[in-house]
Amino acid sequence: MDEAEDAFELRALQPDDSFTSMRAGHERFTPLKLFARKNAKKYEAENLARTYVVHDRVHKRSAAYVTLVCSEVTSGPELVREDGLHFPYDTYPAVKIARLLVDDRYRGQGLGVHLVNFAQGIAKAEICPAIGCRFVVVDSKAESIKFYERCGFTLVDTGENRARLEPVMYLDLHKAQ
Ligand SMILES: CC(C)(COP(=O)(O)OP(=O)(O)OC[C@H]1O[C@@H](n2cnc3c(N)ncnc32)[C@H](O)[C@@H]1OP(=O)(O)O)[C@@H](O)C(=O)NCCC(=O)NCCS
Repeated sequence: MDEAEDAFELRALQPDDSFTSMRAGHERFTPLKLFARKNAKKYEAENLARTYVVHDRVHKRSAAYVTLVCSEVTSGPELVREDGLHFPYDTYPAVKIARLLVDDRYRGQGLGVHLVNFAQGIAKAEICPAIGCRFVVVDSKAESIKFYERCGFTLVDTGENRARLEPVMYLDLHKAQ
């Protein structure tokens, strides 16, 4: 992303952003493309979510997007702190990565990590100081678990969670740099 700063712009969703030419790759990811096309602006207007877009200035199209919402994590023995202890409270405030899609023509260039780091940065720099927030969470696609681990997330370690189509992963902002 750094090397391609001139080509790409990361910005809040704009009224004229279009996702019609966006390519999701496998059909399992089509709902992510449809959300961007049909719901992102509506959710924005209703204050249900915030979407940020990587805009390709050269081809004048959306290359990737992330959608963030407020969330809450229910704690339990499966949620383990970095020091090995458990979290004492029943629930914790969180920012949730509700949607993340990199157009398949743009994958492997660092855009995904950049958007996750951006989400983490918003949580730490803007949400935490204003209202308190302990985690960034995501319902990962099963095939993206390794990607989120690469971003510092931990899989909630239960058989039930591992068996889910979209297993829950979390990043403790208290330890995140
Ligand atoms: C998962 C996704 C967001 C990754 O985006 P991306 O821009 O291709 O990822 P990056 O280029 O930032 O990759 C960063 C690192 O993660 C690795 N990585 C990316 N996708 C991976 C995957 N599915 N499995 C394992 N590793 C992966 C890359 O190899 C790279 O590692 P490296 O830096 O050691 O070389 C993208 O593939 C995508 O949109 N997938 C479909 C939708 C999806 O799964 N969304 C997330 C769940 S909601």
